[in-house]
Amino acid sequence: MKKSLLSVAIEAVRLSGKLLMSSYGKLKKSQVSMKTKNDFVTEIDKKSEKTIITTIKKYFPDHGIQAEESGIRSGKGTLWVIDPLDGTSNYIHQFPIFSISIGVMQNLDVKAAVVYDPVHDELFTADKGKGAFLNKKRIRVTPTQHLSEAFMATGIPFRARDARFPEYLKSFEKISLGSVGLRRGGSAALDLAYVACGRFDGFWEIDLSPWDIAAGTLLIEEAGGKITDLWNEKDYLKSGDILASNGRIHAELSAITSSIFTRQNKDKRCLSV
Ligand code: IPD
Ligand code: CA
Ligand code: CA
Repeated sequence: MKKSLLSVAIEAVRLSGKLLMSSYGKLKKSQVSMKTKNDFVTEIDKKSEKTIITTIKKYFPDHGIQAEESGIRSGKGTLWVIDPLDGTSNYIHQFPIFSISIGVMQNLDVKAAVVYDPVHDELFTADKGKGAFLNKKRIRVTPTQHLSEAFMATGIPFRARDARFPEYLKSFEKISLGSVGLRRGGSAALDLAYVACGRFDGFWEIDLSPWDIAAGTLLIEEAGGKITDLWNEKDYLKSGDILASNGRIHAELSAITSSIFTRQNKDKRCLSV
């Protein structure tokens, strides 16, 4: 029987989750390397990616792949956007917040999404038009109406702490002071999944990559939330500068981010296949 995109994505993340957990806490220094300043990769990231790609290829040999560690392989019609370990620094330090993220795209639209947290065995899934789920239970964003009541998440820039860091700090100050609390978990894919299931009311981060966000964007939309760039526009895959929320507090948040951040001229989009 032909498997659906979603069920293949689930099979892949479950296998990869087993692999991540079997090596958790057992990494040797020699298995870790730095890609660019403060941006690490381990042998487990690469093994996880291999496992995921092998699983996808078994069912869909001619689909395209965009995977963080091995780049892009073109294919026909469908593109699998893969982060084999989101939260590598957490994984290395045995801080138990990390995930595997797979978004399946057609014509730059995410059709199926899976974010899996193997530590807590939490599987977030979405099929376009059919809702979002956590371990098969329907999830929805929060009803929170105002930023002053919101529990927020963010990602702190850590690679090149460059020209944008002062802008980021301003947004941090405004949103931190304006909300009831702010967290930095360390896995952007999980941050998005947590907005989708109502643990957070909103999330923002700059300079993310398609594999960090592809799956999470569909989870948010299918859970009734909103995702845009920092200027309240739709081009978030292009810039990687994203703002996600329950929708109700989006205008308040985007008024803050759009007044602080300067647009960058960059394009991080996935290939259209
Ligand atoms: C990182 C995590 C982190 C976010 C970074 C990402 P990685 O992914 O999602 O939360 O702040 O921007 O790069 O490198 O661990 O896959
Ligand atoms: Ca990532
Ligand atoms: Ca990664």
